[in-house]
Amino acid sequence: MQVCVIGTGYVGLVTGVCLAQIGHQVICVDNDAQKVKLMQSGQSPIFEPGLAQMMAANMEAGRLEFTADLRVGVERGEILFIAVGTPALPSGASDTRYVEAVARGIGQHLNGGYKVIVNKSTVPIGSGDWVRRIVLDGVAEGNSEHTNFDVVSNPEFLREGSAIYDTFNPDRIVIGSSSERAIDLMQQLYAPIVTRQFAQYPDLPPVPVLVTDLTSAETIKYAANAFLATKISFINEVSNICDRVGADVTLVAQGIGLDTRIGHKFLQAGIGWGGSCFPKDVSALVHTATDYGYDAQLLKSTIETNRQQRLIAVEKLQQVLKILKGKTIGLLGLTFKPDTDDLRDAPALDLIDRLTHLGAKVKAFDPLISSARSHPDLTKITLTTNAEDLAMGCDALVLITEWQEFQLLDYTHLASLMERPTIVDGRNYLDAVALTNAGFDYIGIGRPR
Ligand code: UGA
Repeated sequence: MQVCVIGTGYVGLVTGVCLAQIGHQVICVDNDAQKVKLMQSGQSPIFEPGLAQMMAANMEAGRLEFTADLRVGVERGEILFIAVGTPALPSGASDTRYVEAVARGIGQHLNGGYKVIVNKSTVPIGSGDWVRRIVLDGVAEGNSEHTNFDVVSNPEFLREGSAIYDTFNPDRIVIGSSSERAIDLMQQLYAPIVTRQFAQYPDLPPVPVLVTDLTSAETIKYAANAFLATKISFINEVSNICDRVGADVTLVAQGIGLDTRIGHKFLQAGIGWGGSCFPKDVSALVHTATDYGYDAQLLKSTIETNRQQRLIAVEKLQQVLKILKGKTIGLLGLTFKPDTDDLRDAPALDLIDRLTHLGAKVKAFDPLISSARSHPDLTKITLTTNAEDLAMGCDALVLITEWQEFQLLDYTHLASLMERPTIVDGRNYLDAVALTNAGFDYIGIGRPR
């Protein structure tokens, strides 16, 4: 099928590359000419394991191309994905101006046959009908007669760092539309994924496809992220109770997770959730609820618990080091999760802010963050290029991101570089016994010392 993906941010680029991989003819559009040039030269503007190689292979096979010209993309695609950003406004609402510009542009360039316009971006609930009207405005502006299209909501559920795996091994595919024709085309588009032709376990039953109305599909996206964020805030709250009563949250999580109604996933206590999705989406859902006259108290608590949890390491450092002014704290990791170079709304940034406010010096080592220029908050800290330089002269280390390589560090050596070796394991990721044997005062989250 002929597919056009508009917006080559995280979601757009992964979607475009993966749809090409399953055999579709894909053209990706972005209004950033520099970025398009970069992609045309075969380079990925984002870091995602396996993406650059898959991108190159599909360009080579002639199934994937890039353009800065929206007209070319719209004319060529029979399925048009809108995958531009919907960043959070200060109010917590989503900024939909990029979606609006693209919808208008699509309308202006609509041509020929029937098209399916797919909202892949996480758009505010109710956007499907709104996009339809904006496209029609664009059609009128373009003096065109072509109104042969339907709008579909098709939320994505992929995670940064495992985006390709998630795309080919999804738990479900959600298609929101009232048009049989559009639903049918979307089912054809995803058939190779539904039948697990690219899956790790091809013998599993087909991927469930849930067909809903537009608004329900849009709400599913927000509800899924809000539920996952709530699950994490819940276990983080339990970890704070564990700290006080002397229980171990990792065992508690194991014990409750064995109940299949609860499940094990997303019960890792730590320094809180971050990234470009959970913070934005939970706030947007609260905002939508407020707009419709409902006070979403549980979701507000999910956010508040997370805000406090992000500073839990400060509390733990104060318990051991007392005064933080003049002390040096070394952060192992900065990104909001491993296998990404993404610092958006990373808990590390709040921690840095608080520690520097308290007069501590902050150093950090992250395998994928090499330049302080990449984020203004990082200009307050010293970045090192390895764990030894990080540990040297530090009063305490804090593990922020569970990078696999951090499990393999020589902690005995690191301890020898510190006067009173202390480590706060902000993700309960390291082996407490091994760290203690290496000479560290090991402090987990919600775990007895
Ligand atoms: C999240 C969802 O998991 C995806 O399903 C969704 O498609 C995506 O948002 C999106 O809306 O685009 P992502 O933000 O990439 O994916 O990252 P997650 O793996 O979900 O982690 C989010 C945050 O929660 C991270 O900071 C992580 O450290 C934290 N987390 C996760 C925990 O603190 N504990 C856990 O048990 C799991």
